[in-house]
Amino acid sequence: MGMSPKAIRRKAVYQTLSKIHDPERGSDITRLGSVKDVVVDGRSISFRLSVSRPGTAFSKEVVGLCKEAIQSAFGEDVGVQIELTYSRGRVQQLKLGARHMIAIASGKGGVGKSTVATNIAVALAAQGYRTGLVDTDIYGPSVPVMFGLQGAKPRVNEERKIVPIIQHGVHVLSMGLLVDDSEAVIWRGPMVSGAVRQFLNDAEWGDLDFLLLDLPPGTGDIQLTIVQTVKLAGAIIVSTPQKVALTDARKGLVMFSKVNVPVLGIIENMAWFTPPDLPDRKYFLFGDGGADRLATETGVPLLGKIPLEEPLRVSGDEGCPIVLSSPSSGAAQSFRSIADRIVASLAKREATPAPPLIEYQ
Ligand SMILES: Nc1ncnc2c1ncn2[C@@H]1O[C@H](COP(=O)(O)OP(=O)(O)OP(=O)(O)O)[C@@H](O)[C@H]1O
Ligand SMILES: [Mg+2]
Repeated sequence: MGMSPKAIRRKAVYQTLSKIHDPERGSDITRLGSVKDVVVDGRSISFRLSVSRPGTAFSKEVVGLCKEAIQSAFGEDVGVQIELTYSRGRVQQLKLGARHMIAIASGKGGVGKSTVATNIAVALAAQGYRTGLVDTDIYGPSVPVMFGLQGAKPRVNEERKIVPIIQHGVHVLSMGLLVDDSEAVIWRGPMVSGAVRQFLNDAEWGDLDFLLLDLPPGTGDIQLTIVQTVKLAGAIIVSTPQKVALTDARKGLVMFSKVNVPVLGIIENMAWFTPPDLPDRKYFLFGDGGADRLATETGVPLLGKIPLEEPLRVSGDEGCPIVLSSPSSGAAQSFRSIADRIVASLAKREATPAPPLIEYQ
């Protein structure tokens, strides 16, 4: 018999959530004003939840507690989407006028683009910026794995817009969440850029401060079409210190200058290795000083260097970015300072109209 369950009222959602106590701030989360923007859409409930900062015991368990409370009150079938925000960082937030789309590119594959994109997105979100991340790599999407979202399917709302999945405080969409691996091989360039455009324009992003685009590796037609499809505020190029990677990184600079997208900076990944039992040593496995030279030669700033760390690889495989899983690690600190530099660079650009375009060769 098709008996439909009773409609869920927002007030009942608040009442249910008022049973959850925030031990760090000494009251229940509704009384503290931590619960915002509750939206009930049929059997799906979404809201924003502000906690003091990431990494605390409560911030790690609160999402689970809310889901449990809601599903035990309204039924196991109720979908719950919670966007965690952090109240602490917001204080020092710079004022940015609009949504900033930033492409993360590399000349060579496997240099850590997705790792970098994921962690910068989480670092920006942890500072209170509303941040989205689009994985445009249809042939090798890794963002779903790095966010622990394998098998997740974004829903489509009443206006037929795709609703990004909120995970670790970031609004995430990945081609990999929509297209099966077996279908991906037959997708060609124009289909990919069409789908990317649809992601960026038609998805229900809300008011974002930043939208990061994880590009497929390389500087070919697909990448060029994607970066021409949308209005980018800037691009970031990831490279390892290897000579071949740097040569390809230069091609990335050329590509962005062709389409008049300012390159905010270069990130050197896998810059060195420090064995855990020899914390004072630095081994430059892939060479040393290459990214510095590239930065000096081209005038593009070096935004930061990330060491080669096993925990960084493990955190990616396990779906919890290192900025959250191990915030005091060297890599996490680098990601946070890179996020700060990106914000500062964009704020400066906004304050200075029409920056001169630089030609690279
Ligand atoms: N600094 C690092 N230390 C340890 N492992 C790393 C580091 N950076 C990336 N990795 C690991 O290297 C692998 C490749 O990284 P990632 O997927 O981010 O590269 P990519 O440039 O996005 O690759 P693709 O070109 O396929 O898109 C992943 O397993 C990742 O966890
Ligand atoms: Mg990738």
